[in-house]
Amino acid sequence: MRMLIVGGTQFVGRHIVEAALANGHDVTLLHRGKTGGDLYPEARHIIADRNGDLSALEHERWDATIDVSAYQPEQVGRLADVLSTGHYTFISTVSVYADPPPGYTEDARLREDDSYGGRKVACERVTQTRFKDPLILRLPYVVGPYDHLVRFTWWVKRIAAGGEILAPGHPDEPIQLIDARDLAKWTLTMTEMPNPGIFHPSGPAERLSFGELLTAMQQGTDATLTWVDPEFLIARGVGHEDLPLWPALDEEAAVNQADPAKAINAGLTLRPLRETIEDLRNEPPQPGRLGREREAELLREWRQR
Ligand SMILES: NC(=O)c1ccc[n+]([C@@H]2O[C@H](COP(=O)([O-])OP(=O)(O)OC[C@H]3O[C@@H](n4cnc5c(N)ncnc54)[C@H](OP(=O)(O)O)[C@@H]3O)[C@@H](O)[C@H]2O)c1
Repeated sequence: MRMLIVGGTQFVGRHIVEAALANGHDVTLLHRGKTGGDLYPEARHIIADRNGDLSALEHERWDATIDVSAYQPEQVGRLADVLSTGHYTFISTVSVYADPPPGYTEDARLREDDSYGGRKVACERVTQTRFKDPLILRLPYVVGPYDHLVRFTWWVKRIAAGGEILAPGHPDEPIQLIDARDLAKWTLTMTEMPNPGIFHPSGPAERLSFGELLTAMQQGTDATLTWVDPEFLIARGVGHEDLPLWPALDEEAAVNQADPAKAINAGLTLRPLRETIEDLRNEPPQPGRLGREREAELLREWRQR
């Protein structure tokens, strides 16, 4: 298959490119050459800003386009102006939902505001208007190698370093995620389906709590978890920049409670969580986030309260 990936050199797109190359597809990447420009010499690279001149795409034929890097509806529209052939996949997010109820499905109400999620809703609408039978994937937290956002990987590395770990909030809060490699594999399968539709591939299949997640990361380390009340941390200015993934700080309370059945029934398979964790233990050290000194200080204060 001749496949165009719009993006493809950072994280989510990078795994899609790797899966496509491994499947023997003829892959073209469109990007500006700023992020990972020397990656994938075996693929063709079109160096262009998607907000600028896209005429390089005009007289080409692709069987499938996977758009990983659109955040504004105009970006999807401009692509539709120049792509005359093939199937289109839009990578979206579960942030599109407006205060979804626990167990929400893909037909839950969407945001109408000018937030990240609201703009992705607008992108989805252009996708549905301009492309025939598109695939729209609303992603939960994506985890795995190359993750430049240093969220899940930060926790794996912090817990692997051992000692007393400040665990925020309540261990029973649900969390959902997908390994980027499982997502990439399934995305490619779905691009070949006629009329695929909209999915949120929010793993795992069974409920996972934040406590179970951190406990899984703790296996084989000498780390101990000390759960600290959310009010205590919030009052001290501790947020997602310090302690990523903390579910209570997600904007929509039930965002981590999507029903993944539609994606799973459509063939999504998810590797065991421990595999993802083990693969990330050897990642380079992850800078940023809550420093060890600040963590120790907060834990001391928590005990003395
Ligand atoms: N990570 C998560 O947990 C998560 C959760 C939900 C949804 N998502 C969605 O997943 C996607 C994120 O994927 P990613 O960033 O990891 O994808 P990626 O495709 O691996 O990286 C982004 C790509 O876009 C290119 N790019 C950025 N601006 C561009 C422009 N103006 N013109 C042309 N190319 C441009 C970058 O290359 P250059 O810099 O070289 O141009 C890079 O190749 C987004 O759609 C996001 O909404 C992610």
